[in-house]
Amino acid sequence: MARESWTSRLGFILAAVGSAVGLGNVWRFPWMTAEYGGSAFLVVYLCIVLLVGVPGLLAEFVIGRRSKRNPAGALARLAPGTKSWGFVGLFGVVTALVLLSFYSVVGGWILRYFAASFTGSYFGQSGAYFETISFGWEAAAFHVGFLALTAAIVLGGVRGGIETATKAMMPLIVVLLAVLAGWAVTQPGAGEGLSFYLDFDPAPIEENPIGMLRAAAGQALFTLSLGVGTMITYASYLGEDNSLAFDGSVIAVLNTGIGVLAGFVVFPLLFALQGGLTEVTAGGEAGAIFIGVAGAFQQVPFGRAVAVGFFGAILFAALSSSISMLEIPVAYLVDEHDVSRRNATAGLGALVLVTGAVCALDPGLFDFVAGTLVDLMLTAGLAGFLVFTGWILGTDALAEFDSGAGGVARSLGTPWLWSVRTVLPFFLLATLALNLYSLL
Ligand code: TRP
Repeated sequence: MARESWTSRLGFILAAVGSAVGLGNVWRFPWMTAEYGGSAFLVVYLCIVLLVGVPGLLAEFVIGRRSKRNPAGALARLAPGTKSWGFVGLFGVVTALVLLSFYSVVGGWILRYFAASFTGSYFGQSGAYFETISFGWEAAAFHVGFLALTAAIVLGGVRGGIETATKAMMPLIVVLLAVLAGWAVTQPGAGEGLSFYLDFDPAPIEENPIGMLRAAAGQALFTLSLGVGTMITYASYLGEDNSLAFDGSVIAVLNTGIGVLAGFVVFPLLFALQGGLTEVTAGGEAGAIFIGVAGAFQQVPFGRAVAVGFFGAILFAALSSSISMLEIPVAYLVDEHDVSRRNATAGLGALVLVTGAVCALDPGLFDFVAGTLVDLMLTAGLAGFLVFTGWILGTDALAEFDSGAGGVARSLGTPWLWSVRTVLPFFLLATLALNLYSLL
């Protein structure tokens, strides 16, 4: 059967933005920003997105569009004669499954909060509510629900499933978040949250520069869906050659914009209605943002409607990301092992059903996977893709970068390739070393 492709350039861009915009923007980004001192983190993070994230995104695009394959097949094909690069791609396929295992648990929480928002059943007890629902058999059940939605979309294929779903969900996410932000910033007391978020204060950078750099780098990779091969896979479905540099920039700008927009919802709510960050920063636990924001809704008029809109937006954002994770191993089985999309989706769904349930039952394991393990795997994976692009593809990478690009983009090709060969892998390997060191 012929390999599928996107119906249009817009379809590709929206699917990639859909992958990028997710829990990373709404849940992980405010949590990291709060933990590392607000605006200073924002600045460091934005620099890394620009200097490391965008070039990394372009490297994945180049690999994907040139090979028209899943990550494992892509690296194996583009480096004929050596089997070992295929394993780097295969590492990405495995990472995708690890990632989806914890992501689907958080997706399950969102699904549950979304449903519970209609009745307001967590109102008045948001802390206790999160305690009860976050881990255990019920959490596992909601994880299965979220995973089933993910699998249903992936089953529909590249056009009928992923493209159609993201085209419908992306505009909704933006509209919902924009309305919520407009409302949140006008709440009395919102100003304090905004100034924590936006007033630049360099003190946190000076206090813990390495820690912040590590966190900002991890967040930049996570939010752009890098280091796993998501963007390789999505670019492999490109039918015609357009400027990758342009598409990549649009994707990064939209992703960052939506992340910043989410901050305009979350920070005013936390400060105006919850009196600050104490709850959010307590131990830096993953659930704090749920408790803080969910707790805010009970205090406002039409709180249930606001909550439904908020969790609805996050649910769409999470789904448009989780499908991009499941698509990697599905594409791998379809491309390399001639499995039908249907069987691949069902088999992998069953596998993640189990691995995700284990994460839902064991909070310690969940924390390890969602934090440390994912940071390490993404950083290692992206370093591998960059070295491959810079040293194995070399001038072929430049040719692919240039194909379909205009004059401005072409002039960026050479500096891009240079950074992909040298500074960027070095930066990532240094981050990796720091992460490993802090683990020991
Ligand atoms: N970027 C998504 C988010 O912010 C998560 C995601 C989707 C992802 N696909 C990925 C992260 C691949 C890393 C790698 O929620």
